[in-house]
Amino acid sequence: MSILKIAHYPEPVLLSVAKPVMDEEFNDGLKKLVDDMFETMYSSNGVGLAAPQVFVSQRLFVMDCSGGEDEKQKIALINPEIIHVEGEQNGDEGCLSFPGIYTKVKRELRTVVRYQDVLGNVQELDGTELTARCILHETDHCDGIVFLDRMTALKREMAKRKIKRLKRNGEW
Ligand code: NI
Repeated sequence: MSILKIAHYPEPVLLSVAKPVMDEEFNDGLKKLVDDMFETMYSSNGVGLAAPQVFVSQRLFVMDCSGGEDEKQKIALINPEIIHVEGEQNGDEGCLSFPGIYTKVKRELRTVVRYQDVLGNVQELDGTELTARCILHETDHCDGIVFLDRMTALKREMAKRKIKRLKRNGEW
């Protein structure tokens, strides 16, 4: 397994709509990508990582809201499709493509996502709270949407100012 380079905002790959993974692409290459993405996510202490964040413009992401504590929560979601949302939550959110930026973001409280596993089988995952937040955040990445786009205008301006400062200091 290898650690992949993480794209930082505003890399164009983060702002592009990613391509679906086609039937013939469910192969060893996909499994390797997923393994590398898990390794990269764990090594950065993230709970989710989408392929565009490692410069691969394809619709898939990995997540583990237990931080490696619970094998059942280690999931790769390919071609995710949000099929249900309800409720609302407001909580702190970060993103490995925005190192050092943590801010409150409003999301739905519960979501159901339909996806394919690495073997191509269709699955559904029903998540609330952090799991829902993670699913929604990572599915956004597949659509070229970053969490900056989900902030209030005021928080977005503050985040942009901080990014500018970090860039100036060579910390981005
Ligand atoms: Ni992210």
